[in-house]
Amino acid sequence: MRVLIIGGGGREHALAWKIAQSPLLGRLYCAPGNAGIAALARCVDLPVDDLEGICKYALDKRIDLAVIGPEAPLAAGLADRLREAGLKAFGPSEEGARLESSKIWAKERMSRWGIPTAEFAVFDDYEAAQRHLERRYRERPVVVKADGLAAGKGVVVAPDRLAAEEALRQIMIEKVFGASGERVILEECLYGEELSILAITGGERLVILPSSQDHKAIGEGDRGPNTGGMGAYAPAPLLTDELAREVERQVFRPFLKGLQAEGIDYRGVIYAGLMIGRGKINLLEFNVRFGDPETQAILPLIRSDLLPLLLAAAEGSEDAAAFSADLPLFAGSAATVVLASEGYPGVYATGKAIRGLKEAARPDGGFDSEKEGLALFHAGTAFNDSGAVVTSGGRVLGVTAWAGTLPAALQFAYRSAEQIDFDGCYYRRDIGHRALKR
Ligand code: AMP
Ligand code: GLY
Repeated sequence: MRVLIIGGGGREHALAWKIAQSPLLGRLYCAPGNAGIAALARCVDLPVDDLEGICKYALDKRIDLAVIGPEAPLAAGLADRLREAGLKAFGPSEEGARLESSKIWAKERMSRWGIPTAEFAVFDDYEAAQRHLERRYRERPVVVKADGLAAGKGVVVAPDRLAAEEALRQIMIEKVFGASGERVILEECLYGEELSILAITGGERLVILPSSQDHKAIGEGDRGPNTGGMGAYAPAPLLTDELAREVERQVFRPFLKGLQAEGIDYRGVIYAGLMIGRGKINLLEFNVRFGDPETQAILPLIRSDLLPLLLAAAEGSEDAAAFSADLPLFAGSAATVVLASEGYPGVYATGKAIRGLKEAARPDGGFDSEKEGLALFHAGTAFNDSGAVVTSGGRVLGVTAWAGTLPAALQFAYRSAEQIDFDGCYYRRDIGHRALKR
């Protein structure tokens, strides 16, 4: 098979790494890829928003399956375009992608489909939103959300009235998130622990992947501004077997029924961002793609070939065999530590030489590949003119290790991360802290 991956971050490197292990793979392509992906795939310099260029390239290379990584091309309709061109694509239609690209559309579907979620109200009028704050949230925290895609931002958890008013003004009047602030959601603040659960679906059946937990804040102890994610681990010990059954019953089953009732073409991965508080499940958000960096921690735990499942989902054929069997999993845990550029999620420098990648890939004393493993997933890396690997983004690398236990996986990942250095290299030292406390 000839496979094209669209995207160029850590998630796409993890996908490339997993797909490259498939005996079914003939040739792997990636648009645009990065310096790490280049070792596994032929990278082509096409930005993810060049839908036309990507379709043309996929036709040209006679691609059997296109796997779309990021949300922006999905929201722009890349999967539909590829299908119209007669190609197979792993990724939801533009309509399906609205579950992520419009928070309001998503919340309306959650309510309609009976999926538990925080109480909310929608406003396109600033004064009406202010009155709602006054009436309902005078004494309690509220969450203010801009409607559209805002690169993982656009959500303000306001602890008090002053913060809520400020957030509302910034989003609706100053338009700090652009046009996505023309409509907002005011939502009840939920408490508990967050958990990500992803499932692969062709629209009728699904396969649930191991659970994971992200670390969104830049600073240790979950302090400071939110990022795309500074680390992850999988599986999340928070998810007991009973809770897993409830998530399937309360979230994924209604999701599938809802798709069918509304005739939404959904072939790809659905990401449920959950809040678990006192045993109660609430859905915070849907994402319509693999999480980043959750994917880096999840994929190493899957012991079977992923490609047939991606293909079955893309075909929407609902090949019962592909979707019925339990995934064979590695009996342990995986952890990903993200190495970022100083200044991220604000401004940061790029073009910094990355040292120690070879040493990091082969830790002292080696390791037992049956019982543990290591992968250095590149996120924001590129080659400079002399062919050296340099930084090219805020999140630079996702050092991922897996072992029998989470503490062992974390220790292994940190031992490897210590070998890597670039000017302004920053990472959190407390990835997995919630699970370790358990
Ligand atoms: P979202 O993009 O909607 O998932 O929001 C981003 C982050 O904001 C989530 O991962 C949560 O940490 C937080 N958040 C969103 N909605 C709520 C809520 N209703 N209560 C508490 N925290 C929330
Ligand atoms: N790591 C969070 C996300 O991918 O949305």
